Amino acid sequence: MVYGVILAGGIGSRMGNTEKPKQFLLVGEKPIIIHTIEKFYAIDQFEKIIVLCPSQWVGHTQSIIKKYIKDRSRIVVIEGGDTRNETIMNSIRYIEENDGLKDDTIIVTHDSVRPFVTYRILEENIKFAEKYGACDTVIPATDTIVESTDNLKISSIPDRKHMYQGQTPQTFNAKKLKELYLGLSEEEKEILTDAAKIFVIKGEEIYLVEGEVHNIKITYPYDLRVAESLLKGDK
Ligand code: CTP
Repeated sequence: MVYGVILAGGIGSRMGNTEKPKQFLLVGEKPIIIHTIEKFYAIDQFEKIIVLCPSQWVGHTQSIIKKYIKDRSRIVVIEGGDTRNETIMNSIRYIEENDGLKDDTIIVTHDSVRPFVTYRILEENIKFAEKYGACDTVIPATDTIVESTDNLKISSIPDRKHMYQGQTPQTFNAKKLKELYLGLSEEEKEILTDAAKIFVIKGEEIYLVEGEVHNIKITYPYDLRVAESLLKGDK
């Protein structure tokens, strides 16, 4: 079974002083998170779409879903966790408790604040995870990546043709991710904020799915303006 997992458990501190976490701000006529849920809803392969948000925003999330989405039969809203990975773990716990975790259960995890994800990206994530067990969405790096381990001087400049920028979705065999996550020390949990990195560090293969330049993550106020323009271009 394949589940959509929409990560909305953050508070969007880099967005500055907003009345609501950024995932609830409007872009065009709808909250960002609604644009994202709609993309997932169009894919029939998702058994359920699990939306995870901060506990105090669960009621609000349910009411905007009711307002904007007619057929809500496959959507569930639950509480996220203190970290992004804990939010993902809550989705796995939900699946385990409600449907049971099977050997081939797949979760397509996606930032709620990347509303421009495409159907092609979602479908390829499902296909790759079914075939290989895990995949990550990336785009080739356009700028040269410069590494500085002391944040003062350059320590290396890796060959750009092997550099990519990570986006989401990140898609995993849920059982495998749970097993790897539970095997981490508290220290490792603190460093491994990216779920794909858990696979990499533990020597598990994770395949690349080609993302899109416009699959942006809305992080800063500037990104809201970009999102408004992208949405206008979509019409
Ligand atoms: N996220 C989550 N659970 C957390 C933290 C983050 O589900 N405990 C989600 C966010 O809601 C967001 C996505 O992960 O959709 C990407 O994270 P980011 O852009 O860093 O979101 P925030 O943590 O909300 O932003 P900031 O770092 O500016 O506070």
